Amino acid sequence: MGESIWIRERSSPYSPLLILITISSLLACCGANFHRDVDVTWGHDHANISDDGRLLTLTLDRLSGAGFQSKKAYLFGKFDVEMKLPPGNTAGIVTTFYVLTTAEKHEEIDLEFLGNLTDDPYTLHTNVYTHEVGHREQEFSLWFDPRQDFHKYTILWNPLIIIVFVDDIPVRVFNNREAVGVPYPNTKPMKIKASIWNGEKWATRGGLVKTDWNEAPFTASYRNLEIQTMAGSVGRKNRPQWPLTQGLDKAGKKLLRWVRQTHMIYNYCHDPKRHPRECRHFIDI
Ligand SMILES: *[C@@H]1O[C@H](CO)[C@@H](O)[C@H](O)[C@H]1NC(C)=O
Repeated sequence: MGESIWIRERSSPYSPLLILITISSLLACCGANFHRDVDVTWGHDHANISDDGRLLTLTLDRLSGAGFQSKKAYLFGKFDVEMKLPPGNTAGIVTTFYVLTTAEKHEEIDLEFLGNLTDDPYTLHTNVYTHEVGHREQEFSLWFDPRQDFHKYTILWNPLIIIVFVDDIPVRVFNNREAVGVPYPNTKPMKIKASIWNGEKWATRGGLVKTDWNEAPFTASYRNLEIQTMAGSVGRKNRPQWPLTQGLDKAGKKLLRWVRQTHMIYNYCHDPKRHPRECRHFIDI
């Protein structure tokens, strides 16, 4: 059952990239089951999975936080999860959803939700590590209170682009610019991971506001994990899916610009103290 998809990166000012991806099985999708598809990796007594495998909670108290990871590692994929962040005063608390290489050479795509005092907003802190180098922080405020409800957070990672979505709105992209020497993660599989931990040394107002343990336990909820891969599926049914091999279309770029203009708090590319050289290769967004 072979399927071929042509992708062209239209916006690249460099050599036009034309890639043929032969997908040996249909793009596949569908809901993961936390019992079947993930392992709790630490804080076992601080993690709970509902009987039907659809809801997973991680709890942090003075004794421990907790984390889980997918049983399998994936080379490229689209990973969605709905999260509801701990309510109340969560200053110092970091709740995460990310993908990380399993073998040597640290590569990672990272969403970290930095807690805050009760009436102050969470910050979404993102980073991309390629060939062991990170320092690519971008931070965002959200247009809703992530403590109130479940919202969908997505990491899309294909050979051409990494896109982070919040409720299907692109907030961050990282284009493959290997052609001009910027490392891109495209050889090592990654596992999907999530955790809650005490980050009071840096998380809230740069570490000024510490965790208030009187507010513990802090509980983060994860549901509707979906894993779409090119090579196979953890889901029950196979059905072709749209976005895995695709970059941002015009509407997507417009939304991204809106996020950057109205909700971006920090961008390493605009940090006058740092001036990362690679940023001149990311001007097209
Ligand atoms: C917490 O709230 C303060 C005040 O609104 C804000 O400056 C800060 O960026 C917020 N987030 C974090 C993680 O400190």
